[in-house]
Amino acid sequence: MEQMFKRVNHIGIAVKDLRSTIKFYSETFGLKSSAVREVPSQGVKIAMITVGDLKLELLEPFGEHSPISNFLAKRGQGLHHITFEVDEMEKNVAEIKQKGVRTLSELPSVGYDGKPIIFLHPKDTGGVLIEIEKAASK
Ligand code: CO
Repeated sequence: MEQMFKRVNHIGIAVKDLRSTIKFYSETFGLKSSAVREVPSQGVKIAMITVGDLKLELLEPFGEHSPISNFLAKRGQGLHHITFEVDEMEKNVAEIKQKGVRTLSELPSVGYDGKPIIFLHPKDTGGVLIEIEKAASK
């Protein structure tokens, strides 16, 4: 079959405290972060660090029902998800579902970049939380 994932867009990292994490990446690795943005719909505060083609998405819990709070409680800080870009969001997600992989929501939502995103159930993907994002149209 044709390769569905065209590119890794970013890697999500769950952190307890964005400020100290941003400081750590800056002072230890010389990596600069974007401004912090609150995304209440996803229950997160986000800062992006660009490294070449790839971004690191630092995620701090925001609000009362943040999925990141649950993650931190269960697993502690660390790698949270990996985000692949696809060209044909609807078609590709339908194909994935057809193969028995569940999505965490019925429909895609709008991600940090304003593009449609959807998460796949980590129980169906070998324990990896995979986020799929629609690639920017060329
Ligand atoms: Co993400």
